[in-house]
Amino acid sequence: MAILLDGKAMAAQLMADLQGRMDALRAQGISVGLAVVLVGDDPASQVYVRNKAKACQELGIYSETIRLPQETTQQELEALIDRLNQDDRFDGILVQLPLPRHLNEAAALRRILAEKDVDGFHIENAGKLFTGQNGVVACTPKGILHMLKAANVPLSGKEAVVIGRSNIVGKPVAMLLLNENCTVTLCHSRTADLAAHTRRADILVAAVGRPRFVTADMVKPGAAVVDVGINRVDGKVVGDVDFEAVERVAGYISPVPGGVGKMTIGMLMENTIEAAERKAR
Ligand code: GUN
Repeated sequence: MAILLDGKAMAAQLMADLQGRMDALRAQGISVGLAVVLVGDDPASQVYVRNKAKACQELGIYSETIRLPQETTQQELEALIDRLNQDDRFDGILVQLPLPRHLNEAAALRRILAEKDVDGFHIENAGKLFTGQNGVVACTPKGILHMLKAANVPLSGKEAVVIGRSNIVGKPVAMLLLNENCTVTLCHSRTADLAAHTRRADILVAAVGRPRFVTADMVKPGAAVVDVGINRVDGKVVGDVDFEAVERVAGYISPVPGGVGKMTIGMLMENTIEAAERKAR
């Protein structure tokens, strides 16, 4: 049976560490703030945004969630971002994705000051990750690396296979694994014979968005399997990995819920506190 990559327990530990950093900032008279922008009424985004605000509250981070209607224009969204860039109460600004389809996501993300980009989605931060410079790293990829390292999963020289090539998860996590000296394969919807790739993986990251997509026959015995999926099936949340079957084959596995998602929010809190610490220096 696989060892559980317990995101809930790891995130609790992380939040305790972050509480200490918050105390240190408070002792210097420094407050920390996060602005979250939600455009439209995507039900999943509503849940994520609420969880982010809850985590801020737990740590004593000042947070505001700004809700804009579905029909918001690019100009209105960017005007709001400009205001938040200027607002000293906010060390971090997060625009919840996906945006409604009529909006230009890349332009909106570029509008956020790179030093306030706690999601690591600004091209400056993405470019820094790509070129091996210190910048803000996207929360989910950073959380995945944190989980693997906390469990002492060997990385250097190992085969890592990532399924999914999004800017939010697939591409940045591939880059982080490469920085850890993994040999990285980035698979996607057009990959021929996906299972031939996944079966070679010592570390397998599934960010596909399809329920129970990764089956036991696709997993190398002993592999570390990280499930990034959040899919709703018959009112139940399931990941991209067929957990019950894969946990019998894998060496490590992250559950859904209680896995990567918990770490993502923890890393968002860390990126926000880091932005305040940077500003203080
Ligand atoms: N949508 C899905 N994941 C994320 C994330 O990490 N940040 C933002 N802003 N939107 C998301």
